[in-house]
Amino acid sequence: MKKILVTGGLGFIGSHTVVELQNEGFEVVIIDDLSNSSIDVLDGIEAITNQKPIFERLDLKNKLDVEQFFQNHNDISGVIHFAASKAVGESVEKPLWYYENNLNTLIYILKEVTRLNASNFIFSSSCTVYGQAEELPITENSPVKLAESPYGNTKQIGEEIIKDTCKVVPHMNAIALRYFNPIGAHSSAKIGELPIGVPQNLVPFITQTAAGLRDCLSVFGDDYPTPDGTCVRDYIHVVDLAKAHVVALQRLIDGKNDSNYETFNLGTGVGSSVLEVIQSFEKVSGLPLNYKIAPRREGDVNSAYAHTEKANTILGWKTQSTLDEAMLSAWNWEKNIRNL
Ligand code: UD1
Repeated sequence: MKKILVTGGLGFIGSHTVVELQNEGFEVVIIDDLSNSSIDVLDGIEAITNQKPIFERLDLKNKLDVEQFFQNHNDISGVIHFAASKAVGESVEKPLWYYENNLNTLIYILKEVTRLNASNFIFSSSCTVYGQAEELPITENSPVKLAESPYGNTKQIGEEIIKDTCKVVPHMNAIALRYFNPIGAHSSAKIGELPIGVPQNLVPFITQTAAGLRDCLSVFGDDYPTPDGTCVRDYIHVVDLAKAHVVALQRLIDGKNDSNYETFNLGTGVGSSVLEVIQSFEKVSGLPLNYKIAPRREGDVNSAYAHTEKANTILGWKTQSTLDEAMLSAWNWEKNIRNL
């Protein structure tokens, strides 16, 4: 049984990936500092897979702890690195905290990964690296734009750090996965998204409004150059996204990668507007959503959706779930945690 380290494995995408890894027969070790996650997620994972992953509460900013961890686990066959902060607005307020938290930690882990016998590394990147792309759908060759926020910059710099490392460490193999907008929850409703405080992202704000935690959703802008004037994004079911990580990791373990540093877009290829997401929610939940049109949010691009051909053909992966299915799973999860 191959042992895989998942950093941030109790977070939203991390926890769903742990489930898929265990389903595929991997042994999983999770590192998480619980700064934006709950220890209860471990029970949710176990309830779904009947296996409890190994868990170490560890702050990756402590270099010595990272070194010690890898000394204790020198038989790791691959690392999937999710642990990072991801709030765009907060990153503008606290740039140094974001650079330390997202980049120092990456460097400490990479130093250890390069010393492993199996230096297989999967990195959580983001479509944010493209900014407002000139051409849609967005291919992996679209130019990386000047980052709009320190958060976005940590993803761009993170990719550069990994690429530069791969150039000089030939036995290192890495894949950067550029996510579009992950939403939804596991079909069991035992794990899902757990935003702390007021959600910044659209879908948890919708489900919390419907659950009565928020009064009204603000739709940020209806005067964009899009079909209905609201922003367009590529919303991907988190379970589809999680499965892509297992496929990417297996590609590295099998030595099937074309070069030792690759990037893939992970999206559905379908763009949906904010109003279409609301309509989908209303359809699958049978509930009207209280929303109003509000001013644009600073830093939002008008449209972003993925060209999926590279992931479809080279990774041999494609999304299975529709927007409606993802919205229903998000709503079932919200109802479960609110006892509705
Ligand atoms: C952005 C980044 C993504 C990053 C994520 C982290 C882009 C294209 N995407 O996602 O890479 O990982 O931030 O948080 O840069 N909206 C509302 N009302 C709300 C909340 C959102 O109308 O209360 C709208 C937004 O204006 C946007 C859409 O919903 O058009 C999605 O917003 P959100 O869920 O925050 O994700 P992005 O900003 O697309």
